[in-house]
Amino acid sequence: MTEIHRGLAGVVVDTTTISMVNEQTNSLTYRGYPVQELCANCTFEEVAWLLWHGELPTARELAEFQSVERNRRTLGRTVSGALSRLPADCHPMDVLRTAISYLGADDPTEGLDDRDHNLAKSIDMFAKLPTIVAAEQRRRRGLDPILPDPALGYAENFLQMCIGAVPPAEQVRAFEVSMILYAEHSFNASTFTARVVTSTLSDIYSAVTAAIGALKGPLHGGANEAVMHVLAEIESAGEVEAWLKQALADKRKIMGFGHRVYKNGDSRVPTMTAELRKLTADGTADELMAKYDALAAAMLRDKNIHPNLDYPTGPAYHLMGFDIPIFTPLFMMSRITGWTAHIMEQLESNSLIRPLSSYVGVDQRPVPAGAARL
Ligand code: SDX
Repeated sequence: MTEIHRGLAGVVVDTTTISMVNEQTNSLTYRGYPVQELCANCTFEEVAWLLWHGELPTARELAEFQSVERNRRTLGRTVSGALSRLPADCHPMDVLRTAISYLGADDPTEGLDDRDHNLAKSIDMFAKLPTIVAAEQRRRRGLDPILPDPALGYAENFLQMCIGAVPPAEQVRAFEVSMILYAEHSFNASTFTARVVTSTLSDIYSAVTAAIGALKGPLHGGANEAVMHVLAEIESAGEVEAWLKQALADKRKIMGFGHRVYKNGDSRVPTMTAELRKLTADGTADELMAKYDALAAAMLRDKNIHPNLDYPTGPAYHLMGFDIPIFTPLFMMSRITGWTAHIMEQLESNSLIRPLSSYVGVDQRPVPAGAARL
């Protein structure tokens, strides 16, 4: 009997040197560095460089990278024109999918997939995505876009493009930590999608567009948006027990909980939860946090299921003032670094990804002659 691995659960399909998700030690390292230490000591730009190059940048490398990145933030007319014609209420992940497709269509070097060209495209998407997401956050509210500011770093620039000014340091920090934590997570569904497309020797824009489609799903990146809908459904902390009992009876998956690899808790959650607690220290979100804590405690007690990174990140993005449909685009702004690092790694020793299936349909049979089919 053929052994079937549905969802490829537990199946090791290739090696990688980019990150290690360690279920035993419940830890995550990027190129050998624990992600918690990267959050405490690095900017997101430095982590992006680390994922692409395997080492943290020197001061000179960082300065050169920042100069290139800051000069690539502005959108060309092709992309900005296309995005302005999209329906005002379309999902922002559809905007991102469209934007990347237009970037590819507008790039005369689209088909060149050597490392230098792919690295340049990776940096270009990394630089432009904040401009696209910030413009979309404002477009949804009927506001004109704010231009990127080359004098500001990645996080400060993105936030000022969203709200017109750099917010308090605590918000900038919480946002930057979320970008570092979301950046990379080995062969998750969207990254593996990017590697499958790359394995056919298709272009990087096609691989990223496919990965965006995978990330949008609520079982994956779309969960951070769904967390807020769950917390909004629950009237108060006192309602959590009854709500959860009914939800589990209805066989619902509780968004922001569980993980295919981490079974004793997502190693990234404590770091992001600490940032969320700082954002709520002023007591203005006590009701939300009471529900937040009550649901996490009940899920652990009733199902022994821990929160994943989307659980603290959803409320944190809400408290930073982002519209809920913008949450997964924020995840994507970060994960473009991991995706493109994996795309370049796949090409280093490529093999077409083509698994097998076990046929369980009807046995072979002859097609009936003419009349018999009527
Ligand atoms: C991300 O892979 C990655 O690394 C992804 C990610 C990344 O950085 O790229 O970490 C980002 O996608 C995090 C996950 C975000 N998704 C959600 O929060 C959606 C809710 N979570 C579930 O859908 C689920 O936990 C998955 C999809 C994340 C994992 O699914 P699995 O591996 O199929 O779950 P499992 O086999 O461990 O489940 C075991 C049992 C099942 O019950 P039975 O059918 O055996 O009775 O636990 C149940 C599941 O139904 N279960 C849940 C649950 N998660 C698992 N029940 C209710 N709510 C949940 N959240």
